[in-house]
Amino acid sequence: MILPVVAYGHPTLRKVAKEVQPDHPDLEQFIADMFETMYQSDGVGLAAPQVNQSIRLFIMDVSPYADKYPEAQGFKKVFINPSIYKEEGEEWAFNEGCLSFPGVREDIMRKPFIYMKYQDEHFHSHDERFEGIVARVIQHEYDHTQGKLFVDKMSALRKMLLKGKLTDISKGNIDVFYRMTFPLQKKGKK
Ligand code: NI
Repeated sequence: MILPVVAYGHPTLRKVAKEVQPDHPDLEQFIADMFETMYQSDGVGLAAPQVNQSIRLFIMDVSPYADKYPEAQGFKKVFINPSIYKEEGEEWAFNEGCLSFPGVREDIMRKPFIYMKYQDEHFHSHDERFEGIVARVIQHEYDHTQGKLFVDKMSALRKMLLKGKLTDISKGNIDVFYRMTFPLQKKGKK
């Protein structure tokens, strides 16, 4: 089932998400729905808060980047209760987008190497190092589980220039090809 993606301004995007328990109801179906939603919207990552579930879970499939970034080859994963405990290296710029911000793309600086503990969909624990575009997408999705958004990493000037566009996104005054929920959309308007 395709889930509506919540747009910028939705309160769930600003919550620190809760830990996921192994007995979480219908988790397997929820993960399947998240993949379906992500693929349908041409995303490479999707965090549970973006579909209005404030839990520490995100999914990724960065294989569309495999041509340019070898580490992305076949990289499809579910991350549960992730914790990035170290980041290192020289910050690099990458033009990021986010399904909760249709039409917004911006160069964002992040460190290229990360160390993270997490559980997979079987609740097996892992402690791994990730790099490059894989680390990049993890950092973006991980931020969602912390109530942080990529606009927080933009300069004050860029944010000012984007203000009108962000308001339009919250109100639903945009063209978007996938299903969304807009926090400031007037009732009755579709
Ligand atoms: Ni995002």
